[in-house]
Amino acid sequence: MKVLVVGGGGREHAIIKKVKENKSVEAIYALPGNGGIAADAQCVNIGAKDIDAIVAFATENKIDYAIVAPDDPLVLGAVDALEAKGIPCFGPRANAAIIEGSKVFSKNLMKKYGIPTAAYEVFDDMDAALAYLESAPIPTVIKADGLALGKGVIIAMTRDEAKDAVRSMMEDKVFGKSGDHIVIEEFLTGPEVSVLAFTDGKTVVPMVSSMDHKRAGDHDTGLNTGGMGTIAPNPYYTADIASTCMETIFLPTMNAMNAEGRTFKGCLYFGLMLTPNGPKVIEYNCRFGDPETQVVLPLLESDLLTVMQAVTEERLSEVEVKFSTGAACCVIMASEGYPTAYEKGYEITIPASRAQNVYVAGAALKDGKLLTSGGRVLGVTATAENLPAAIEKAYSYVNEIHFDNAFFRHDIGARAMKALKEDK
Ligand code: AMP
Ligand code: GLY
Repeated sequence: MKVLVVGGGGREHAIIKKVKENKSVEAIYALPGNGGIAADAQCVNIGAKDIDAIVAFATENKIDYAIVAPDDPLVLGAVDALEAKGIPCFGPRANAAIIEGSKVFSKNLMKKYGIPTAAYEVFDDMDAALAYLESAPIPTVIKADGLALGKGVIIAMTRDEAKDAVRSMMEDKVFGKSGDHIVIEEFLTGPEVSVLAFTDGKTVVPMVSSMDHKRAGDHDTGLNTGGMGTIAPNPYYTADIASTCMETIFLPTMNAMNAEGRTFKGCLYFGLMLTPNGPKVIEYNCRFGDPETQVVLPLLESDLLTVMQAVTEERLSEVEVKFSTGAACCVIMASEGYPTAYEKGYEITIPASRAQNVYVAGAALKDGKLLTSGGRVLGVTATAENLPAAIEKAYSYVNEIHFDNAFFRHDIGARAMKALKEDK
């Protein structure tokens, strides 16, 4: 089989390494991939948003199966376009990807179908939003409607901060058209859990739970990033909570999308907050999370491609989706300065014996050397029989890897370890 993967970050590297375990895979292409992914796939210089070029490449090269990993091409209709040419795909069509593409859509969906989430109001008029903020409970959360590279959410601790956020989105258009409509919502508290789930519109199969670490600095300080590390499973997510989520969130979401004529097929990501009033949805993503995928897939014991094809063919209930009982930790090694300004072009050295533990997020190949080319550079992952062992191993691997200007958080998994201890 010839498989195509759209995307070029650490998540895509993790998907590619796992898909390659299937013996029927004879070629795997990454569009665009990156210098590190090139060790595991043929990288083709086509951008993930260039739908026409992706479809042309897939038809010319007789691709048997396509996996569309990032949000942008999904929201832009990459799956629709590939399917129109007869190419089976993993990922939702555009009419279902809207669950991530529009926060107004997803909030209204949850309200209509009684799925627990933060209380909210939608505004398309700035003056109305500012007037509402005069008496809204503080802290409050301001969200731009559309995709905003994960940066369209502002937690305002004061009324003035909230008003500034509204003005920056609706007047200064810092997120472009994404700020035409905004959501102002209730501030929730509690541990966060990421749950990725396979769904074919008939069955929903949650994967092992995980925890992201979004802030740049240790102890959750500094700016929000795309994610500085993950652990799985998430110790806050007990079996009881999992069954509540299945009943009140996962199945109702799948059914709601069906009822709206927007059947979701692919990986549906539930960003949850375990509040004192039960689990609530913070956000949906229409795809695998990054860097959650880098800890979830290493724990998957079943064959990924087989499961993905079952999703495409709507027979997910017939396949086994089994996870190891162990744990995983992924530490992101980033370029100093990320998520704002950072330098590129530093040589990366990874011992050959560690290649299997590294997912490359931002690197380019030049004259046979791997050079840093992004803010997030590497995801260094370890699996072990339990969480403390996985964390220790991941950090020992980080110490074996080098590039100038590297920085990473030293406390990935620390909050999870606290939960484990409180449990005893
Ligand atoms: P999002 O981009 O929607 O994942 O939001 C980014 C982060 O903002 C989340 O991971 C949460 O930590 C935080 N957040 C979003 N919505 C809320 C909320 N209603 N209450 C508290 N924190 C929130
Ligand atoms: N790690 C959060 C995301 O993928 O959006």
